[in-house]
Amino acid sequence: MKTCKIGSIEIKNNICLAPMAGLTDIAFRVLAKKQGVGLVWTEMVSVNAINQNNGVTMRMTEIDPNERPVAIQLFGQQIEQIERAVKKIEDRADIIDFNMGCPATHIIRAGSCSALLGRPEKVKKIIETIRKSTKKPITVKIRIGLNDYKKNHVRIAKIIEQAGADAIIVHGRTVAQKYSGIVNYKAIKEVKDAVSIPVIGNGDIVDGASAKKMFDETGCDAIMVGRAAAKDPFIFKRIIHYLKTGKELPEPTDKEKINHFFEYAKLCEKYTIRVGHLIAHAHLFTKGIRKSTILREQINTVKTRDEVIALIKSFKKKLKN
Ligand SMILES: Cc1cc2nc3c(=O)[nH]c(=O)nc-3n(C[C@H](O)[C@H](O)[C@H](O)COP(=O)(O)O)c2cc1C
Repeated sequence: MKTCKIGSIEIKNNICLAPMAGLTDIAFRVLAKKQGVGLVWTEMVSVNAINQNNGVTMRMTEIDPNERPVAIQLFGQQIEQIERAVKKIEDRADIIDFNMGCPATHIIRAGSCSALLGRPEKVKKIIETIRKSTKKPITVKIRIGLNDYKKNHVRIAKIIEQAGADAIIVHGRTVAQKYSGIVNYKAIKEVKDAVSIPVIGNGDIVDGASAKKMFDETGCDAIMVGRAAAKDPFIFKRIIHYLKTGKELPEPTDKEKINHFFEYAKLCEKYTIRVGHLIAHAHLFTKGIRKSTILREQINTVKTRDEVIALIKSFKKKLKN
């Protein structure tokens, strides 16, 4: 397995946890780190909310020493707001990441995230501004264009590199695709061939074989895993094992999946994570477990941490393995 360097930051391997709003809180990131992932990302954080000192937002930028190195992901579109926010939180981050990939309609309407892919001049200005505002390494997460007719990943990647970024993460889908279709390896490879800074390939990695496929098809320097890790952060152990040995470890048993949830729940208590995150992860961690549909319907009806834990404990007692 290779290591990876982003700016001045040495990453112990080339496997990353994707930023996921509502999911990659500090407890989840620490749990993923324990499974061997090299670099983790916070959820996306609004620059305006940082500048307004919003309590929930500021908590999202809190970092535990056990999870370093960590990238704090920002989003926004007003240059002065971006500059102020970077200066305000740069001390907390090892890497400042900027989101140019989120396809959510309300975010695009506000001109942020993936909407920026349609404004290359603005992309240049934003990254140049971040470059001037911090000495920390900068990464930028993009998609491959607004839609099939407006793919501009190579042009945008070159602009981002020239403006001073230290690495680019490419989710190999267009904005219009959202999460449909399959990841476009060819487009990620085109970015890799066009720039000299590290390229992190993202999309549809679900096991060791698909992780290797991302490396093989694109030549990327590192890979980033999102949804599959949200269901099971222990995937990082399996991916690392596969990349070292060429063999897949067995998927976790139903009981192991529940135990993983309890490990996360324990960390949630330590870091006082909001119950909404615990509920979201209770849904994700129990997916695929036999007869768990009713459990998830029950989870939807509860509101407190203790109620969620009690439901899952009682469900675990009925499991065979
Ligand atoms: C629930 C959810 C929340 C996400 N939140 C973010 C986010 O805050 N910032 C971001 O750059 N991407 C976000 N993403 C996109 C992921 O980082 C990743 O690019 C995408 O899921 C593709 O990778 P995957 O196929 O491994 O899931 C989110 C995805 C999901 C499913």
